Amino acid sequence: MWSKLFAAVLAALFIQGAQAQVVAPTGTLATVLPAATDPAFGGFISDGGAGGNINGMNLLTLSDPSVVNADGSVDFPSAHTGYAVVDSTNPSQITIIGNFKGSSPDFWHGTPDNSGTGGGVINVMAEDVDCNMNAACFAPAPHTAAIPIPGNSTGAINIWPVHPNEGNYVYNTMFEMNVFADADTLNSQGQPIPTVRTVPVLFNVTQGQSGYGSRAITSGYGEDGYAHFYAWEGDTTGLKVARVPWSSREDITTWDYWHGGNGGWVTGQPLTYNSDAGGNALNLTNQNTFFGCDVRYVDRFNTFIITFSGGPDFSQYISYSTTGDITGPYSDPAVLFNPVLNAGCAGKGGLQLTDFPQMHWEYYGTTADKTLVSWGSCDYYTDMAVVQWS
Ligand SMILES: *[C@@H]1O[C@H](CO)[C@@H](O)[C@H](O)[C@H]1NC(C)=O
Ligand SMILES: *[C@@H]1O[C@H](CO)[C@@H](O)[C@H](O)[C@H]1NC(C)=O
Ligand SMILES: *[C@@H]1O[C@H](CO)[C@@H](O)[C@H](O)[C@H]1NC(C)=O
Repeated sequence: MWSKLFAAVLAALFIQGAQAQVVAPTGTLATVLPAATDPAFGGFISDGGAGGNINGMNLLTLSDPSVVNADGSVDFPSAHTGYAVVDSTNPSQITIIGNFKGSSPDFWHGTPDNSGTGGGVINVMAEDVDCNMNAACFAPAPHTAAIPIPGNSTGAINIWPVHPNEGNYVYNTMFEMNVFADADTLNSQGQPIPTVRTVPVLFNVTQGQSGYGSRAITSGYGEDGYAHFYAWEGDTTGLKVARVPWSSREDITTWDYWHGGNGGWVTGQPLTYNSDAGGNALNLTNQNTFFGCDVRYVDRFNTFIITFSGGPDFSQYISYSTTGDITGPYSDPAVLFNPVLNAGCAGKGGLQLTDFPQMHWEYYGTTADKTLVSWGSCDYYTDMAVVQWS
């Protein structure tokens, strides 16, 4: 009897969950906060900074992070890749993991053993053959948020696109990290977070394979989150998505690929890069998902939200699943906000633009009426701001 009652309650909860009304997200850029600084290094700039909560910390994925010296000069870049943690009470204060002091050309490309100042997050392996066997040319360019591994409070997974020798992105790589301590402890060690590449070459984009996971990775919602995560690719046609079983994540033959409303999920048949638009979860044209794409289930809206930087103005666009399902259909993308160029950029050399707007959904939590956002301003600032939801 009790188990029957329990089952009934579970069923009721499930139906309630499935029926939760999708809320269309509307919001405005309400507050621009001081640019991010690091107590150990001072000023700080990075392309991107996708955020995810791991072990209670809001972890930023950094691409070309650089520290800005007290005299205003920039050692660009201090490292090619890295992580930082946003302070839990002051979003303008970040702690860079590792020692990024000084300009160390070795770390422009990373080194096979991750030795030396700054350190790379992921190292070169023999499988990195598209690098013409030249280990020193390895140059990952990450913009994806890490997601937690279910049942492991310190474990996280990430997938990064790889640009050997600063050329076009040719393949992506999967790795796992162990975020075992608080930010201050990690920082005092002067070392990057320990990582291991589990699938060095996940998809070869040069061979027409869609690099699933190189635009965004997303935890599943509810019970599904223990079984699957979702790996996204953005190409010239739009966004493609794969459903990855946690238990066999390293074996791409077990992944399911979304083939659109008629095809559904198909095991072992990835879509082709820059083609197969019929299987896209969201069609896009001339919009650059490379500059900061995020996909999250946001409880406030009872649905999955896609954000990305669209077009030459680098505005932050937003689209939501109208059904609550990760496969959509998704609403037509709308501009959520236009990043504001930091006033300190005036008179400085280099690029006078904002780029890589990114949502930090977990910072205030996914039920909150506000969300922390960030973007890069000229070559000198990582600006932090707050979007207020209506
Ligand atoms: C959690 O995951 C990380 C990354 O794969 C791994 O290094 C660590 O050993 C795992 N911890 C446990 C307790 O399984
Ligand atoms: C990627 O291409 C390399 C050769 O360039 C090959 O050795 C490797 O097996 C390929 N990997 C995948 C996942 O297709
Ligand atoms: C995307 O466009 C293709 C045609 O190029 C179409 O077949 C497909 O249904 C569209 N997908 C979505 C989600 O709108």
